[in-house]
Order: sequence, then structure tokens, then C-alpha cells
Amino acid sequence: LREVAFEKDLSGKKVLVTAGPTQEPVDPVRCLTNHSSGKMGYAIAKMAMLRGAEVTLVSGPTAIEPPLFVKVVPVVTARDMFEAVTAVSDQQDIIIKAAAVADYRPKNVSEDKVKKKDGQAFIELERTDDILKYLGQHKKDGQFLCGFSMETKDMIGNSRAKLEKKNLDMVAANNLKVEGAGFQGDTNVLTLITQDEEVSLPLMSKEDAALKILDKILELTK
Ligand code: CTP
Ligand code: CA
Repeated sequence: LREVAFEKDLSGKKVLVTAGPTQEPVDPVRCLTNHSSGKMGYAIAKMAMLRGAEVTLVSGPTAIEPPLFVKVVPVVTARDMFEAVTAVSDQQDIIIKAAAVADYRPKNVSEDKVKKKDGQAFIELERTDDILKYLGQHKKDGQFLCGFSMETKDMIGNSRAKLEKKNLDMVAANNLKVEGAGFQGDTNVLTLITQDEEVSLPLMSKEDAALKILDKILELTK
């Protein structure tokens, strides 16, 4: 019932959300990834849809059901996500990058399963593209760009640095060490950081946190 009661205050807006982890293959059986569940990004996509937006969700591999009435583009690697996002980013009014994109990938991907040997082993890594930084460098007039920031220390300082460096309009920051925040649960504790302010939200469901993010974006784009 709550779902039909939403004011359609995002109607006419195109919203692109990214969610989940990426997986960077090592060989046909192994990959580098992280603990992102996709729940935060999926909640944002769902709430934006319920508020009337035309939503595209570019998602890394997750175990959760995608929201209805959202265009879902499944991806695996950071490279796939870069391509899926940049293919549609020009047309978006709002882009929210909740995905936990791998910063590094194995430099060489073995065609066959790597067999174990005695002693230490190493995987040579190379950097992935920073999708959000690219979007900041190619931001369209009037486009709103929101990043996420996951930190375990100096959350505000590190997140502000990302706001500046990536030319973002907002960063939704969370500290993995705070109870109820982070990757796997159904709740989050976010601080919304913009050029002029920092709004610390209390512990709340990821759906409610999604609504707060969308409220703040609407307030700033009016
Ligand atoms: N991000 C991205 N592409 C990458 C890495 C990160 O688009 N290759 C985006 C994430 O989707 C997120 C934001 O950048 O919205 C911040 O991600 P985070 O991992 O917190 O920061 P980084 O800039 O990668 O820096 P670090 O991991 O060193 O803290
Ligand atoms: Ca990172």
C-alpha cells in the first residue's frame, strides 16, 4: 500500500543506478570480487521507479530479485559496467553509482584452471577504469552525479576528496565499521555529503535511505 502512495515527483526524469559488485576473472573457476549484496542500489532503483522515474539499473552479479518496471542491464566485470553505463549516461538526468566496482583486475586471465604448486603464488593486477571519474569528466549540463563511498576510517575526509576528484554533486558515504551499515544487511547508516553540507542520517532500512538520497537530489536540483 505504501507503494501506491508515492508522489510521482521524479516523473519525466531518467535515472541510472549501478549496483552490486563486479567480478574480475582470474581463470575459468576463480574471480576477484567483494561483499556487495546489491541491496542499496536495488532499493534506490525501486524507490526511483515508484516515484515515477524511468530507471535503468546496471547490476553486477547479485542474489536478489531485480525490482519490477526497471530496465535491468546485467554485467560482470568493471569493463562491462563501464561500457553499459557510458552507452546510456548521456541521456540521464540523475546517475547514482552504488556499485562496488573492483579497483583492480588480474592482468592476465588464464584460459585454463590454474593448478596449485608448492610455495607462494602471486597474481599480477592492473587498474580498472574509474567509471564515476569518467562520468564526472563528461558530465552533461544539469546532470546530477551521486557517488557512494565506503570507508573504514576518516569517512568524511576521504569522501570529500572523492566528491572533488570525481566532480560529483553528492557522495553517500558509509563507514563499514558502524553497526547496521555496509554491504550485506537490510539497513544502512549514511552521511550525504555535498559541496555545502553534510547530512548524517540515522540507522534506517536501505529503502528509507534510498528515499532520503532521492529527496536530497530533488532538493538540490530544484
Ligand atoms: N567507482 C567507479 N569505478 C571504479 C571504482 C569506483 O565508478 N573503478 C565508484 C563507485 O561506484 C563509488 C565511488 O566510485 O560510487 C567510490 O568508490 P570507493 O571504492 O569508495 O572509492 P574509490 O574512488 O575506488 O577509492 P578507494 O577504493 O581507494 O577508497
Ligand atoms: Ca574502490
